[in-house]
Parts: sequence; C-alpha cells; structure tokens
Amino acid sequence: MYNGQNGSRVRSGTLFVDMNQRTYDRSFWEQLWSKTLREQPDKVARRQPNAHLVAEARNLLPGRALDAGCGHGAETVWLAAHGWQVTAVDFSASALAKGQSMAEAAGADIAQRISWIEGDLASWTPGQGQFDLVACLHVHVAGSVAEMVQRMASGVAVGGTLLMVGHRPVDPATGAATAAAGQVQVSVETAVGALDPLRWEVAVAEERPRAIAGTGVDAVILARRRP
Ligand SMILES: C[S@@+](CC[C@H](N)C(=O)[O-])C[C@H]1O[C@@H](n2cnc3c(N)ncnc32)[C@H](O)[C@@H]1O
Repeated sequence: MYNGQNGSRVRSGTLFVDMNQRTYDRSFWEQLWSKTLREQPDKVARRQPNAHLVAEARNLLPGRALDAGCGHGAETVWLAAHGWQVTAVDFSASALAKGQSMAEAAGADIAQRISWIEGDLASWTPGQGQFDLVACLHVHVAGSVAEMVQRMASGVAVGGTLLMVGHRPVDPATGAATAAAGQVQVSVETAVGALDPLRWEVAVAEERPRAIAGTGVDAVILARRRP
C-alpha cells in the first residue's frame, strides 16, 4: 500500500522520552493511533485540518506539497482537495491507512493526488527542492531540531514555502508548563537559527495561543526559499 523512499520502512531509530517517561517512538504512535482509531473513529474523521496550515496555504498557488508527520491525513486531504499534489509521510501504518481511506471517501480525484509513504522522519529526507510547500506540524524530534528543520527545508523548491509548527512546553505568557511539557518539538528560536538568511526569508516566526483555551501555545514558522 505504501511506497518506499529515502529511509522509509527503516526500523525506527527514533527514541525520545519526556519527563512523564513517555517515549515518542514508532511503537508509541502506532499503539496510540490504533487505539484512537478503534475507539473514536468518528471523532478522528471529524477533526478539522490544522488552522495554521489552512491560513497559510490558502494564500499559495497549489503545487507539490510534503506533509511530514501527516498522521491520519486531515491536512493532506485538505491540501489535495485544494489542488495540491501531496506526499504524506508518517511512521504509523494505522494512521496512514486511515488517511488513505478518508482520501478515497473524499473522491477519486482527491485520492489520486496523494502518495502515502511509511517512513521515519528521523532519517527520511525529501528529494532536494522537490516541493513547493513542506509542512511539518506537531512532530516530536528525536535528534537535533536544527538538523530536522534543515532536512525538511532541503525539500523546498526555489520560491517555495516551509511551514513548521510545534507545541511549546511552556506558556510564554505565564511561564506555566503546557500539555507538551518535556517534549521536544520545533521552536521559533531553533527554526530561525537553522535557516540561512541568505537562502530564506522568514515571513512568520511567532508563538500563537492554540485555538482552544488551555491547550497551550504553538511555535509557527513560515519561511520562503529565496531565488
Ligand atoms: C501530534 S501528531 C500530528 C499529526 C498532524 N501533523 C497534525 O498536525 O495533526 C504527530 C504525528 O507525527 C508522527 N511522527 C512522529 N514522529 C515521527 C517520525 N520520526 N517519523 C514519522 N512520523 C512521525 C506520528 O505518528 C503522528 O502521526
């Protein structure tokens, strides 16, 4: 069902443990997805696409997009429905299967615009300059965040867009720990520091409260690859 490419189906070397001693590796996500899809399939299917992605992608001309860490594909299907040719990567086979069935339910024209890839983003690398949009939303990083940002950025074509979003572990307004306390995801400082200003114009680099009160803060980074 899935294409193999650039490290896909490599046994996960991803290992990250938060302060609650949770390990966000392939096995953790596969178990979480398979339990959630078994117990709450309708809730998953109803989830709206990420508001940051919708707000930013609305202003772009559809082209080739990478959804890195696509989960069950709410954003992937939204992009395909808006004319994008999407490559969707995740290491949870259950999430990918759900995404594929949702895309098929949305229509053959949408499903045929998506390639689903089972791959580990700890090593999976997009083809150089292959995408007009690379989106990587709420993915835990096992190794260096800067390296991951640069690897995802390498997939963006000249004139294309990189969108990275991460939960912040601490609320900057209050200093209180959020639900993502102890987790490593992309931050504004690390993403901006990882992007060479000669090659990237950073259009958005800010922390935004999440839409639902009490659910924390997201780091949102949107950068354009300079010609
Ligand atoms: C919090 S969910 C976010 C899903 C979606 N991007 C969104 O914003 O709703 C994180 C997703 O990233 C995937 N993921 C986490 N680490 C990964 C890795 N190293 N390689 C591939 N997928 C990964 C998980 O399986 C999960 O589907």
